[in-house]
Amino acid sequence: MEKKINNMTDNRKTPIEISKEEFQEIGYQLIDKICDFIDTIEERPVTTRESPTQLQKTLGNSPLPENGRSPAELLSKTTDLLFNHSLLNGHPKFLGYITSSAAPIGALADLLAATVNPNVGGQILSPIATEIEKQTVKWLAEFIGVSPDYGGILVSGGNMANFTAFLAARTAKAPKNINEDGISASSQKLVIYCSKTTHTWIDKAAILFGLGSKAIRWIQTDIANKMDIEVLEKTIKNDIENDCKPIMVIGTGGDVSTGSVDNLREIAAICKTYDLWFHVDGAYGIPAAVVPEQNKLFDGIKEADSIALDPHKWLYSPLEAGCTLVKNPQHLIDTYSSHPEYYNLNKDDFSQNYFEYGLQNSRGFRALKVWLSLQQVGRSGYVKMITEDIELSELLFTQAENHPELEAVSQNLSITTLRYIPLDYTKNSANKESYLNELNEAILNDIQQGGEVFLSNAIVKEKYCLRGCIVNFRTSKKDIKEIVEILVRVGRKTHKNFKKNTPK
Ligand SMILES: Cc1ncc(COP(=O)(O)O)c(C=O)c1O
Repeated sequence: MEKKINNMTDNRKTPIEISKEEFQEIGYQLIDKICDFIDTIEERPVTTRESPTQLQKTLGNSPLPENGRSPAELLSKTTDLLFNHSLLNGHPKFLGYITSSAAPIGALADLLAATVNPNVGGQILSPIATEIEKQTVKWLAEFIGVSPDYGGILVSGGNMANFTAFLAARTAKAPKNINEDGISASSQKLVIYCSKTTHTWIDKAAILFGLGSKAIRWIQTDIANKMDIEVLEKTIKNDIENDCKPIMVIGTGGDVSTGSVDNLREIAAICKTYDLWFHVDGAYGIPAAVVPEQNKLFDGIKEADSIALDPHKWLYSPLEAGCTLVKNPQHLIDTYSSHPEYYNLNKDDFSQNYFEYGLQNSRGFRALKVWLSLQQVGRSGYVKMITEDIELSELLFTQAENHPELEAVSQNLSITTLRYIPLDYTKNSANKESYLNELNEAILNDIQQGGEVFLSNAIVKEKYCLRGCIVNFRTSKKDIKEIVEILVRVGRKTHKNFKKNTPK
């Protein structure tokens, strides 16, 4: 006799399924609200200035629900919650950090990807998705102008893209017994080289992957914020004389603070001479290589053993999408491949299993949104958008240069740094620089709270600067001009209050 399991009937009913009719109804409602949101994004505040306490109050403090609720009601409330209490990086006046306005096709792609839900860890689990990811990786290599034979993998962002490459470099260049015996068994200290502008992923990588933070040789930069190549070579020679084992040099293709690009050609030559892995962190800047006028800045990129680039930065993908490209993808397989007995994934010689290319086993279909926007926009569309972002950044710089109360400090790629200098503060007092640093920090806080525009900060030549990074296809010339007016208005007000409150 058939065992009766609970009260299950032959046709199972579960509380998580949504009927076709209901899905259609709430899906259409959601899409309508999203369309209105995107259409009116410019009229909304960039951010709502609410404190975590206020937000917790809005959210309520109810315990985990015991019973379920209608998805229509949930989605409707949640849509309002997100639209009304978020920082809108899709706003035309959001120029903070390096987070782009998200391509609308990416939102639809994520819905589609989540619906099919392929596990892009193994090709057998994601037949077409794997092929789409392979094509995306190939197109990204073509996009930045390196050989389409580079292989790679989509990851969650810049940190992960750099980590993925870092570990491949370690496998390739560290003594061969390291996989079995670990770093501590190496008689030589493994060391790596990067400039002082390198993003903080490098500290995390050195600590997490066993080299230790003392393994990082921080190479000083020249006045243009580029790695000093002479110092790099001297440091490598010195390490070799002292029985250290140099393994890799990291060149930056657009530094996070000011957008400056290292001299990649010269770093590549040093790596060749000393047999070192050449990695380029192009998480932010490398997409600019698609622009003919910018391409020469990235001369030498074709020599890179690995490259990190982030579609969720300057290719306008919704978060999360990063990518590691490796000249010889076998290095990824040597680093990440393992074959547990419960895997029956290597069906034939032609399948590509992405669990062998990176840190994740189960993986989502991030490639879809990148693949779709590359096709929606095409190379020429990206050339236009990236060129315009750079031109708008240059406009911000010249507007600051021409304004008596602003100092234009730096401009590279689409990043401009500037600061507010009050008219009554031109005197050369001993405390001038420290006052300006404190004032500009206060201005930044006021701007970030104000909700009209969102900038972040950078320290350039010991100056505390306001920093605008334009990876935003919605920003226009009008926005830049308005932003300058806002900066000066907030600058004046903050200076006035600041003077009152600063003890003499
Ligand atoms: C040059 C560079 N590398 C790495 C990263 C880290 O990227 P993510 O925040 O996506 O991990 C950033 C972030 O701004 C960056 O600018």
